[in-house]
Amino acid sequence: MTEQQFERHEVAVLDSTMSYVEAGKAGPTVLFLHGNPTSSYIWRNIIPHVSPVGRCIAPDLIGYGQSGKPDIGYRFFDQVRYLDAFIERMNLDDIVLVAQDWGTALAFHFAARRPQRVLGLAFMEFIQPFARWEDFHQRPQARDLFRAFRTPGQGDKLVLDDNIFIERVLPNSVLRTMTEDEMDAYRAPFPMAETRKPILALPNDMPIEGKPADVAAISAHDHRALRASSFPKLLFHGDPGALVSPEEARIFAARLTNCDVINLGAGAHYLQEDHADAIGAALQDWIPAIAKSHELERA
Ligand code: BEZ
Repeated sequence: MTEQQFERHEVAVLDSTMSYVEAGKAGPTVLFLHGNPTSSYIWRNIIPHVSPVGRCIAPDLIGYGQSGKPDIGYRFFDQVRYLDAFIERMNLDDIVLVAQDWGTALAFHFAARRPQRVLGLAFMEFIQPFARWEDFHQRPQARDLFRAFRTPGQGDKLVLDDNIFIERVLPNSVLRTMTEDEMDAYRAPFPMAETRKPILALPNDMPIEGKPADVAAISAHDHRALRASSFPKLLFHGDPGALVSPEEARIFAARLTNCDVINLGAGAHYLQEDHADAIGAALQDWIPAIAKSHELERA
């Protein structure tokens, strides 16, 4: 399944533009939020399962995919500003959020501030405050690489000059071998070093051992709000996962209200690339069910 079958649109957002794909007309709005260094492309094989039951909208975050690349710092808070403006511009309400990686941090932050606009939240490989470096990532080599991304001088060389995040981190965090066409789709938005600034900014914002303090504080706040929330949740996990192990997923979901868990089997970080059909089929069942109970509650 290629992305070309989806309608692609562009909207003015703040001082730039955001690109998104849209599919499906009936049912609740389903907002797909990707992470680093991907784009709406990562949802291409999931959206066809969901479009019969929801209006699917998958934006490219600012600096990613076909969205604009304004001259900003590309910190998490910049992503929040642009995504908020996108959601307002698109007039989205009663949203089912479907998110992975940094998309989850954005989804949690939105849900913490606007719980009444959230119909449900499906998420995977999520971001949370990591108390110690040992809690971040299942693989020690990945931890070392992220430490290097956060080391002045080294991060620029690895991510901006050598394009390691696209060429190594991405394919190494998918279990199957992605085709050259797929890799080219992920490479396309980042042809030169300057265009890769967003990819370097987010690992530097990963809340690990309380740093950076502003993102760590917001992430802790958003997780408290998530634990207090009652909207339906669906957590997908892989084995061994990258940010979330099967055991962590089980424990995490048990502490939430109204959270189902789906074990996708063997998987690392970009679960959408290894398990698109299973994720899509589960969403196709789950979305009408949560929309129906929402309507019953309102009646
Ligand atoms: C991240 O960007 O959060 C990430 C990427 C690959 C593996 C784990 C985490």
